[in-house]
Amino acid sequence: VARPIVDTLGRPMHDIRFSVTDRCNFRCVYCMPKEIFGRDYAFMPREELLSFEEITRLARIAAAHGVEKIRLTGGEPLLRKGLPDLIAMLAKLKTPSGEALDLALTTNGSALAHLAQDLKDAGLKRVTVSLDSLDDATFQAMNDIKFPVQKILHGLDVAHEVGLGPIKVNMVVKKGQNDQDIVSMARHFKGTPIILRFIEYMDVGTTNGWQLGEVVPSADVIARINAELPLEEIEPNYAGETSKRWRYRDGGGEIGVISSVTQSFCHSCSRARISVDGKLYTCLFAGTGHDLRALMREGCSDEELSFAMAQIWRERTDRYSELRSLHTKRSTDGAKKIEMSYIGG
Ligand code: GTP
Ligand code: 5AD
Ligand code: SF4
Ligand code: SF4
Repeated sequence: VARPIVDTLGRPMHDIRFSVTDRCNFRCVYCMPKEIFGRDYAFMPREELLSFEEITRLARIAAAHGVEKIRLTGGEPLLRKGLPDLIAMLAKLKTPSGEALDLALTTNGSALAHLAQDLKDAGLKRVTVSLDSLDDATFQAMNDIKFPVQKILHGLDVAHEVGLGPIKVNMVVKKGQNDQDIVSMARHFKGTPIILRFIEYMDVGTTNGWQLGEVVPSADVIARINAELPLEEIEPNYAGETSKRWRYRDGGGEIGVISSVTQSFCHSCSRARISVDGKLYTCLFAGTGHDLRALMREGCSDEELSFAMAQIWRERTDRYSELRSLHTKRSTDGAKKIEMSYIGG
């Protein structure tokens, strides 16, 4: 029986995230800019993608190593054909002590109204929806395909009605683009069961032209909200949570800030990521991954796969965000990084 594994910095593998497709119907300026991800962009051919059986096999082995949370991401995961079937397979997995895993999905919400019930029926526990503004002009400029806010809000309502909660909303804050909407977003979700989280714009990948000057530090986000809607900090839900939690002093619920640029959280990072084509990445900013698909397609046994996964994690040294803040406050100097749509958020 496999035992929990820790890396060179003592961090356990607690969370595994699968990117189930590198495609997306949105072209968010900070993630899949149109100039790069245009009509002729070569997405991964179908046969390169992990099958549902391969994903489930990796998840089962990860669970035996102590992973308690599975998150499906993309690209836009709801574009992957038959996704509820994959969810039904993953929902059957158990931790070594016999408990079900936390099974979550990160989506842009565009197909949520349509699919929420099927996802819930298949065994999905909760969804996190990206929404960068409530103002149509701003949101449409950011998703860059003129997708309307109203449809996302409707998707959130349906997800809530079918019981896919607690629901979180992620807002990536980019200076000069949507930072004027911070307080209106807070107001909108205050007093609802939805937890709004503000994410610092990150230098993932190499195509978004990231500059430090476009980052709004989370401390500023909190200060701007606090000036109008008083806040107090609260304890994390679990060790290694990406988000710092704050609650409204008047009881209007909570918000979170994810500050990977100004207050990195590598010291407790317990996330393994599997790319669309089955490479294990031990950091969002890694340049290369470990090809688990090759092992599986060469016919390795579960024991061999389990050993490989454990060995990769044990040797893990990643702390990209910490190093970035220690040194230049600049994005890596010309280093090769993979795109977020390929590796998953
Ligand atoms: P919960 O399970 O609800 O706590 O969510 P989570 O924070 O694990 O997952 P989510 O996908 O909602 O993460 C939100 C965002 O935080 C991601 O989309 C990334 O932008 C960022 N993020 C998550 N994990 C990491 C990480 O390991 N490193 C960095 N730098 N950013 C991360
Ligand atoms: N910086 C911060 N967050 C990002 N996301 C995508 N690209 C970036 C970036 N450059 C977010 C999305 C979504 C999650 C998957 O990651 O908005 O909420
Ligand atoms: Fe698509 Fe999400 Fe990337 Fe936007 S952030 S382009 S919705 S994968
Ligand atoms: Fe984890 Fe890498 Fe993000 Fe640090 S930069 S928190 S090691 S994924």
